[in-house]
Amino acid sequence: MCGIIGYIGKDNSVKHLIEGLRALEYRGYDSAGVAFFDKENALMRVKAEGRLANVEAKLANVPEAAGSHCGIGHTRWATHGAPSDTNSHPHGTAALQIVHNGIIENHVELKAELVALGYTFESDTDTEIAAKLLDYYYKQESNAPDAISRLTGRLRGSYALGILFEVEPNKIYAVRKDSPLIIGIGKGENFIASDITAILRSTRDYYQLEEGELATVTADSIEISCNGKQIVKERKTALWDVEAAERGGYAHFMLKEIHEEPEAMIKTLRPRIKDMLPDFSDEKLDTSALAKVERLHIVACGTAMHAGLIARGLFESLARIPVEVEIASEFRYNDPIIDESDLVIIISQSGETADSLAALRLAKEKGAHTLAIVNVTGSSIAREADSVLYTLAGPEIAVASTKAYTVQTSLLSLLAVECAMLRGRINESAARELVTELYERAPKAVAEMIDRADEVKAIAEEIKTCEDLFFIGRGADYYLSSEGSLKLKEISYIHSEAYAAGELKHGTISLVVPGIPVIALCTVPSLIEKMGSNIREVTARGANAIAVSFKDVPEANKTVIIPTIDPRLAFLPAVTVLQLLAYYTSVARGCDVDKPRNLAKSVTVE
Ligand code: AGP
Repeated sequence: MCGIIGYIGKDNSVKHLIEGLRALEYRGYDSAGVAFFDKENALMRVKAEGRLANVEAKLANVPEAAGSHCGIGHTRWATHGAPSDTNSHPHGTAALQIVHNGIIENHVELKAELVALGYTFESDTDTEIAAKLLDYYYKQESNAPDAISRLTGRLRGSYALGILFEVEPNKIYAVRKDSPLIIGIGKGENFIASDITAILRSTRDYYQLEEGELATVTADSIEISCNGKQIVKERKTALWDVEAAERGGYAHFMLKEIHEEPEAMIKTLRPRIKDMLPDFSDEKLDTSALAKVERLHIVACGTAMHAGLIARGLFESLARIPVEVEIASEFRYNDPIIDESDLVIIISQSGETADSLAALRLAKEKGAHTLAIVNVTGSSIAREADSVLYTLAGPEIAVASTKAYTVQTSLLSLLAVECAMLRGRINESAARELVTELYERAPKAVAEMIDRADEVKAIAEEIKTCEDLFFIGRGADYYLSSEGSLKLKEISYIHSEAYAAGELKHGTISLVVPGIPVIALCTVPSLIEKMGSNIREVTARGANAIAVSFKDVPEANKTVIIPTIDPRLAFLPAVTVLQLLAYYTSVARGCDVDKPRNLAKSVTVE
């Protein structure tokens, strides 16, 4: 997600801004920029698409940067508008510059108001809208605190804002809602930052800015006020080293990203739900295709393909539309039978997977309508698909995909409800019931499962020395097994197989030997008796059967009971169990959790 840094003090501000943005690079970004006062107190701005080095290259031709003592900086993880120089932050006017982390949900209505007031816009961002609205209020109030208060009174959504006003070259203002922001405490210098990582090289001391608080920061003072009254804040001290700070204090990015899942689900779903029903009207999505297509193809690789398997179950059960899920590297060489009556959904976290991109191009050649479900804004797959639905999980750094899968399946669940409604397969009240469970219960169920990580860690201790392992399930649980198996293999290097539980007796059960762990997914109520028989088949041959279910499974040696949730969405807390199991097993085996051998985060080669 985006990163914010601000510096004011005796030192050169631009040096600190660049240093801070470099420390925030781990958050993932696609453009960056700085705004600063030069020694004549002129407010200047330098920004660029791509890596931070591109900003530094531009700064090399701006000698005024060397004399600056006050500035703000930003790394952008694009949500509104593709990565570009123009869309990069800071945004502003002659009177002010701002940097923003978060999503302004009511940006459309605010922009219309500003256009009517004569404002023009150069970027596609919600941030520029916030900047111009602040400019409007500043012209009316002619003081920063009141103008900022009026701005935050109008913004809906999430924001952390760093603000410079041209007439106040020795002050930085900061305010936030939902997106975090801290105020770093130095000696003769002070900071604002998205997180402590950005300023650890200068200070470990900071104030945590809370919602509704305004920070006014100078080189020698930090004033924090709420409703116009100055308040006393608790001074905090970070205990992390720089390396740990980049992971937000988590031991690994993978664990951090699992913990981010509940928030990522809410962020991804919130803009597509109104009155607890699916509402994709803010997206450039041709929902008529969902209403009339005769077949749905979901094409992806690895974990993204496993997300497609889950989606298949929901589209078929809710919308009664036939769904084919295909591995992209197979799809593209099978001369698939598709035409304009088909909808092809490409799922990709990175949006750059070569096989998935090739599959997209083939589907378009054959006349199918294409929809991309992508996490990286402006990525190749996002740009080339007919329409795109972004997951808003923020950057996923660990090679093993976790939160991406969780938000992909969450978004596809919502899309399946939309599709079912468009095709008259589900009425509003049934749709609202499932969407409410998806939006209000599912993130909590995932969070509850994360809180019980120690239970899963104990199972990791049980299986860490095994060299072979089975995941078995039926229906959605079979699809879930595929993801559990991939996660375990790719980061713990234990060989495992996902098997349709009913298939074991047709050959593979010959591999079941005493002590082999068998993870039995049992989240489908109508199939739990059958799963009980399958578990008995393996325990009769000495297997150590570990069930994952909504209730105790007596046939298993032990059961991880997932938090209560509509069985159609049980895959969400259940996959969290499998992600944590893979994580703790990998740690127990001393593997490189975030960068497993032989693997890359995005497979941009065939
Ligand atoms: C997931 O844990 C793997 N790292 C891998 O299977 C990944 O899901 C696959 O390469 C697809 O990547 P994408 O989502 O970026 O297209």
